[in-house]
Amino acid sequence: DVQFTHLSKLVLGGGSNVLFTGDFDGLIILNKICGTSTVRETDDLVFVHAGAGENWHQFVLKTISMGLGGLENLSLIPGCVGAAPIQNIGAYGIEIKNTFHSLEAVSMEEGKLRTFSKDECRFGYRDSIFKQEEKGKYIITGVTFALSKKPLLHLDYGAIKQELTVKNIVHPTIQDVSNAVISIRQSKLPDPKVIGNAGSFFKNPEVKNEKAEELRMQFPEIVSFPFTDTTSKLAAGWMIEKCGWKGKRIGNVGMHEKQALVLVNYGGATGNELINHARMVQTSVNEKFGVTLEMEVNIIS
Ligand code: EPU
Repeated sequence: DVQFTHLSKLVLGGGSNVLFTGDFDGLIILNKICGTSTVRETDDLVFVHAGAGENWHQFVLKTISMGLGGLENLSLIPGCVGAAPIQNIGAYGIEIKNTFHSLEAVSMEEGKLRTFSKDECRFGYRDSIFKQEEKGKYIITGVTFALSKKPLLHLDYGAIKQELTVKNIVHPTIQDVSNAVISIRQSKLPDPKVIGNAGSFFKNPEVKNEKAEELRMQFPEIVSFPFTDTTSKLAAGWMIEKCGWKGKRIGNVGMHEKQALVLVNYGGATGNELINHARMVQTSVNEKFGVTLEMEVNIIS
């Protein structure tokens, strides 16, 4: 007990968005809380609860097999259910906050279990209260999602539409969308089981609209999209590629040949070698575009 209180603590789920630059001096808690259950139902929604240690993709597949919509665009994201809300995982036009209902977490200081509503989680782009003021203070034990019996499909993302067209699917089901997302991810993103990576290493930066406009004048092909009324998001992958880093390998490190936003460890590179590579990429993007890339991966030093 005394030991638990005094040691520094780190909660790990699947470890898929973490980079260690050295040994962690403290207690690593591996979350293995499993099990899924239906909590309650309305005419349109089913509230499904999952233990934080459940594998995310297996959970998504389970909800799809139950005929429930809402998580299909988030298929094949590595990691665990409990880690998903921490960075509000997102892909292909959907974020976890779209279907999130609540979560339970134990505070490490007092050992008390409490519930966080969606508002209390303060979700943002790859962000929540658990990356801000409550960072490192809770062990998330379970998450509840409000999933739809009458799914509304989100097919706005170009790549999903393309994939469905190629497969000749005119009236897609949630299963079709999940399959399309799986194909897209498999074609672009390296499998962490085969080649070390943590998905996107940087966030897509948010810049003032004036800055985006300035960049569009200078680089007409730059990929940008509206974010808030006054800001735009820029595709970091595009900028990294334009700086010449895509598929370029230095030693055992490089930005992936099919997705320049993904930093890969070809085997044997140390955490510090990876960070140094990431810093070189940040510097060159800053020099060419005047934009600062923020790391998306959790660095444990
Ligand atoms: N692009 C390039 N070159 C590249 C990579 C991308 O020009 O090497 C361009 C693409 O052509 C496209 C745009 O950049 O026009 C966006 O690319 P993509 O659709 O691949 O998505 P992304 O913005 O690079 C984000 C998420 C991914 C998520 C995808 C799909 C972040 C940091 N990353 O990547 O999430 O899967 O959208 O929605 O927001 C992750 O967080 O680990 C992750 C993989």
